[in-house]
Amino acid sequence: MSTITQNTLPEIARERLDRIHSRTAKVGIIGLGYVGLPLSLLFSEAGFKVTGFDIDAKKVDDLEAGRSYIFRIPTTEIQSALQHGFRATADFSRLADMDAIILCVPTPLTEHHEPDLSYIENTARSAAPWVQEGQLVVLESTTYPGTTEEMLIPILEAHNAHGLKVQSAGEPQNNGVFYVAFSPEREDPGNDTVARHDIPKVVGGHEEIATSLAASLYEGIFKRAVRVSSTRVAEMTKLLENIYRCVNIALVNELKLLSLKMGVDIWEVIDAASTKPFGFHPFYPGPGLGGHCIPIDPFYLSWKAKEYDFSTRFIELAGEINGSMPQHVVESVAQALNQHKKAVNGSRILMLGMAYKKDIDDLRESPSLTIIELLRNAGAEVLYNDPYFPTVGRGRRYNLNMTCTPLENLEQYDCILIVTDHSDYDYVDIVNKSQLVVDSRNATKGIHSPKIVRC
Ligand SMILES: NC(=O)c1ccc[n+]([C@@H]2O[C@H](COP(=O)([O-])OP(=O)(O)OC[C@H]3O[C@@H](n4cnc5c(N)ncnc54)[C@H](O)[C@@H]3O)[C@@H](O)[C@H]2O)c1
Repeated sequence: MSTITQNTLPEIARERLDRIHSRTAKVGIIGLGYVGLPLSLLFSEAGFKVTGFDIDAKKVDDLEAGRSYIFRIPTTEIQSALQHGFRATADFSRLADMDAIILCVPTPLTEHHEPDLSYIENTARSAAPWVQEGQLVVLESTTYPGTTEEMLIPILEAHNAHGLKVQSAGEPQNNGVFYVAFSPEREDPGNDTVARHDIPKVVGGHEEIATSLAASLYEGIFKRAVRVSSTRVAEMTKLLENIYRCVNIALVNELKLLSLKMGVDIWEVIDAASTKPFGFHPFYPGPGLGGHCIPIDPFYLSWKAKEYDFSTRFIELAGEINGSMPQHVVESVAQALNQHKKAVNGSRILMLGMAYKKDIDDLRESPSLTIIELLRNAGAEVLYNDPYFPTVGRGRRYNLNMTCTPLENLEQYDCILIVTDHSDYDYVDIVNKSQLVVDSRNATKGIHSPKIVRC
């Protein structure tokens, strides 16, 4: 139970809280990507003065010119935010003017599958000199429990120009301190069933004042803030959510492999099980995991667990099963071609969908990238179509240098491979015009044709 009230808050925190409540608070958001940009726009819409910070000069230029670089964010939203005072910059000295600073920078894995905290570290180093007394700093990047306390806070304290320290549990200080919290992002790209501001926001401060300031700030844009007792609980909450997803997807992927052998339609089974009004939540099999979260976040925890001599077996097993799905897709293509008396080697394959899930313009960690590589290694000529990607260049692991192939003359391809079930595709038409369709997403549900191989 919080013992902090408006009256017991030290003056330096009360001033910030008053500005948060009156929406005159200035909010600085560092990292203007898939998380940071929509968040900036939400704060701006709610009347806060928002400044976005990014080291990517192109993003800063685009935003300042009123252009959007994220498909689902219309240019009009950027322009409206600019009219309401939103600014984008690479000048970190402007952080000094903010009441709250929110970090939304990437947390990928290294080549060796270990947490890459370099983005948080670099951002903390760039921000630290400008942190002011009474300011609130919130980390939103997904990471293992302990990052805020073990990494972010020490850097902010060590490199602060004024020698400020974080307010720690115990007596509230009247001066010389700033506040730190962790609040995970919960966006589900492409999911329009829940309005962004209806998603409760979990907030855990390093101590009570930070929790109070951060929760009040987020209540300015979200209907509800869920206060938890520490930054570690907030960090672990995000990981539990994503590991739950990752493990359940692995479970249905494994059951799909078995169902294929047994001649049972796993998607029909999931639909039937979903009619149970309690105790079952549907997850769907697919060609493998993608995106910045589910394939990566669980391994932040398994890495940290080693410090405690603890092996996270569910995470490892789920990783193994989900990681094998692109190979399963490629084997299914080989078998399907074989039925047509063809080999993968020398076949022309048109892959539908580059994005890691439908109706979004994000291909980070997309299984399509691995599938292309595996098919090419086996000698196939692979082309792709994806309405969200006119071209695909260099990524974190691949340099494909490919251009989107128009959805024409489908009969010329030995195989059409559906990797992403974008809503814009006319699947009946695609099946009609193709020789062979291998479908890894059940996108052709309800279409009956001997040309379709579901995998
Ligand atoms: N994308 C999602 O759907 C999603 C959902 C939940 C949580 N997350 C988490 O949110 C965090 C951010 O993810 P994202 O998808 O927005 O990443 P992103 O790559 O889209 O955006 C990150 C931005 O940070 C910028 N950046 C990198 N280093 C910087 C630095 N030192 N200073 C300033 N800016 C810097 C990059 O230029 C980029 O614009 C990650 O930890 C991710 O796991 C993402």
